[in-house]
Amino acid sequence: MEVSGGWCFSGTVTVSERGQIVFPVESGPKNWINPIIMIYFLDYWNFRVLQITERFTMNYYNDPNNVQDYINLAEGSDGRELVEVLIKYLPEAAAILELGMGPGVDLDLLSQYYRVTGSDNSQIFLDRYREKNEAADLLLLDARTLQTSRSFDGIYSNKVLHHLSEEELKESFLRQKDILLPQGIAFHSFWLGDREEFIEGLRFRYYSENLLISMVDSHFEVLEAAQYAEFEAGDSLYLVHKKA
Ligand SMILES: C[S@@+](CC[C@H](N)C(=O)[O-])C[C@H]1O[C@@H](n2cnc3c(N)ncnc32)[C@H](O)[C@@H]1O
Repeated sequence: MEVSGGWCFSGTVTVSERGQIVFPVESGPKNWINPIIMIYFLDYWNFRVLQITERFTMNYYNDPNNVQDYINLAEGSDGRELVEVLIKYLPEAAAILELGMGPGVDLDLLSQYYRVTGSDNSQIFLDRYREKNEAADLLLLDARTLQTSRSFDGIYSNKVLHHLSEEELKESFLRQKDILLPQGIAFHSFWLGDREEFIEGLRFRYYSENLLISMVDSHFEVLEAAQYAEFEAGDSLYLVHKKA
């Protein structure tokens, strides 16, 4: 019987007396190397596709090791100078939601002035904070979709929204407008620049003042946009805007 399997196999096979298909020995390397290569190639390709998909769908901060690494890295730093800016615009005792609270260092600071609700899309960060603050008001929230029926006088984030794509950030700003009370204030900090990079699957989108302002100014009144130093002069910026 003449059989053709594309570049994997071609040649004449016979059927033995016991009904088994017998491939010709003299059919040459093409007929036995190619299927093996093909299987290895498909296996490798499946493996790579899985790896790549996992890398981009898994939340980096849903890995306890990454959470611990961040806690160690961030030890000793806080957003005090940012909170001091916010105080100029948002009166004390206001209800404020922090997005991407991480270890909760800024949430503790904010709680000295405001009624605070912490949030993150990593349950691990929320659990870690809950261990030391049983009564904390915490929400598991994605900063992009902000799926909550609650409303707030203020929304604060410190180095969180750069993990969203530009489109996702626009979506987030619109949702923030929905959940802010009239005259509500939003305060966010970002890395300054105009590029995007991925580190261990995590997105880092850098922004300029002009780009950020253009993304919010049709929905909010921009109150302040300024550069500051996180590690070195001008590596960061913050934006304060009010629900119009
Ligand atoms: C660089 S850490 C900053 C943590 C904290 N704001 C601080 O200043 O230490 C980024 C935080 O944002 C959270 N995060 C990342 N993407 C998020 C998203 N789409 N929604 C909510 N939180 C997110 C991470 O889980 C992490 O806690």
